[in-house]
Amino acid sequence: SQIKEAEFVKSSGRAKDCPKDDRPEFGIVGRSNVGKSSLINALVRKKEIALTSKKPGKTQLINHFLVNKSWYIVDLPGYGFAKAPDAARMDWFSFTKGYFQNRETLVGVLLLIDASVPPQKIDLDCANWLGRNNIPMTFVFTKCDKMKVAKGRRPDENIRSFQELIRENYPQHPPWIMTSSVTGLGRDELLLHMSQLRNY
Ligand code: GTP
Ligand code: MG
Repeated sequence: SQIKEAEFVKSSGRAKDCPKDDRPEFGIVGRSNVGKSSLINALVRKKEIALTSKKPGKTQLINHFLVNKSWYIVDLPGYGFAKAPDAARMDWFSFTKGYFQNRETLVGVLLLIDASVPPQKIDLDCANWLGRNNIPMTFVFTKCDKMKVAKGRRPDENIRSFQELIRENYPQHPPWIMTSSVTGLGRDELLLHMSQLRNY
């Protein structure tokens, strides 16, 4: 399941501009600033294959990265800026809907959730939306290295609260993994999980 090589392939403004290809792919989804681009860099062990930023909203396009010449990781724009009006949040769903519903090679979505903050409504909304649309998802909790966090709640406590809320809608909780792009926690587990989903 290890990554030997990874290359940036293409940025697409619309779903229909994505590479025409039958290789399997994983979409990386999550709130703006949750650590999507950082996770991709940590997975492929390249510092800046995906551009990261302290300012939310850095990734605005659909970015395809080809791994081992055999499968794709796809960096998608983040949703739910803390300060964005509801109208802008809705746009995310209409923008990415085209990608999710038409991308036949999509094996699954990694839904990234910041473990350093308590459960956020927009993340629960996104999980429910993906579930309703029958898109297989894995919860990837990010920033698990952050031990000094808001209101003194530790990552494991935030994760437990999130899972309790999810179980209200999903008796069968989706697979989940704790990660940190800083320490490398969860990297090997996630790569193995993705290889199992691809069946090789
Ligand atoms: P958008 O492209 O704006 O949607 O953001 P993104 O989800 O791609 O987030 P990005 O990877 O750019 O990271 C946002 C900030 O969080 C950066 O300052 C990162 O250094 C930081 N960060 C990301 N992952 C981790 C992590 O595992 N631990 C810690 N402590 N910080 C992280
Ligand atoms: Mg990004």
